[in-house]
Amino acid sequence: MDISLAILCALSLEAEPIIDALDMRESFDVFDARLGLRIFLSEDSKTALVLFGKCPKYKVDRIGTQFATLAAWETIKVINPKALASVGTAGGFKSKGAHIGDVFLSCGPIYYHGRHIPVEAYHEFEKGAFLSADIKVPPAIKAGIVSSGDAVFASIDDHKKMQLFNTDAKDMEAAAVAEVASLCHTPMFALKAISDFVDSNISTHEQFKTNYKFAIERLVSALMKLDLICAQK
Ligand code: ADE
Repeated sequence: MDISLAILCALSLEAEPIIDALDMRESFDVFDARLGLRIFLSEDSKTALVLFGKCPKYKVDRIGTQFATLAAWETIKVINPKALASVGTAGGFKSKGAHIGDVFLSCGPIYYHGRHIPVEAYHEFEKGAFLSADIKVPPAIKAGIVSSGDAVFASIDDHKKMQLFNTDAKDMEAAAVAEVASLCHTPMFALKAISDFVDSNISTHEQFKTNYKFAIERLVSALMKLDLICAQK
């Protein structure tokens, strides 16, 4: 396979509009079947979308850093794309001037805000800070700091880290994809649409239910503007 870009998505509701927009078809027998990952290819087989799949025990989409790590590793090992993208929704910050539907392209390091190991030797390890690739930022997309943790609701420690990193987009996958990509010397970036505010009194899930359709529409249109996708159309 000669894949230019593999798009990694955790939620099927994030993946489906992208699969439609890029007119992708599902391929079978590509990955180790035990992992439950799904892969969709564009007609020219230059772009792949890897969906983390459902938890066989609890029948929900597998979100978070474990499955991001698994998906990134299997994607690189089996299809070895030229670049990886962690694509989906994220929490944003009203206090930083963000709006629902804003789309952030990762710039600089991608951090873990949810890896807390208060031991001197782990001070840098906790942060991750794996570099995202230098991608041209198209108009209507913002360059921003992306950070990840395995919790939808941010703890006090998570908030402190996000303040330190100056996070614009809080997600649950990008740092893990960035970590595996860095091990394998594969360029990666994150593209995240704001579906809810971290600094709001309304629960994240309530906000997400209200906003996800609009945020994902904006995500798809931003994705189509990236040079990496445009060059293949
Ligand atoms: N995905 C969408 N909104 C999120 C949030 N607030 N935190 C983590 N991941 C998200």
